[in-house]
Amino acid sequence: MFEEFTGKFYYLLHPRPTVVVGTLCPNRRANFMPASWNTPVSEEPPTVAIAIDSYAYTRECLDFHGEATLNILELGDAQLVYDLGSVSGREVDKVSRFRLELVESSTIAPPGLARSIAILESRVIGKYPIGETYLYVLEVTSARVRKGVADRFGFLFTEGVNIPLHASGRYFYGVDPRKLVLKKGLT
Ligand SMILES: Cc1cc2nc3c(=O)[nH]c(=O)nc-3n(C[C@H](O)[C@H](O)[C@H](O)COP(=O)(O)O)c2cc1C
Repeated sequence: MFEEFTGKFYYLLHPRPTVVVGTLCPNRRANFMPASWNTPVSEEPPTVAIAIDSYAYTRECLDFHGEATLNILELGDAQLVYDLGSVSGREVDKVSRFRLELVESSTIAPPGLARSIAILESRVIGKYPIGETYLYVLEVTSARVRKGVADRFGFLFTEGVNIPLHASGRYFYGVDPRKLVLKKGLT
């Protein structure tokens, strides 16, 4: 038996891995905002899409300078991830407010967050207005990980690495490190 879900439909698509989008802004500052509405789109070219609210300063920053770092932090940094989404770079210099240590990017101008366990560098190749957001399509120009956190199939969750999955509001989950290894499919 099914019943109508009375919450917001997208909660059924959460929890979601959250990236922190690093941009260069019209106020000449670097800015960082968490975004959980992100997804890979294609392998060739390597692209991701992120839905950014029209009112977010990050939207203006992406239009001002069309490059961004996508920073993946550890689960232990979930409070910082949340806090970065609680104020706007329009009013607050988040780098000094949150004492963010920055790291130079290798292919783009915006810096990354030094405490990240992985950083994708990207540049905007498309922008689509949808409802209250703009869907930005970003081509990935570099993908780097902190030594020891990943093998070529991704993060080593079974070895204690974990990332914040945004549930709703102030609620986050971590990844369940149990790994299901399935039988081969019928081919
Ligand atoms: C965990 C988390 C995930 C979020 N995901 C998104 C998102 O995917 N898209 C979006 O537009 N805003 C998202 N937000 C809200 C923005 O991060 C928030 O509005 C932020 O203050 C915008 O910062 P800015 O004005 O400096 O760009 C999220 C907030 C949190 C805490």
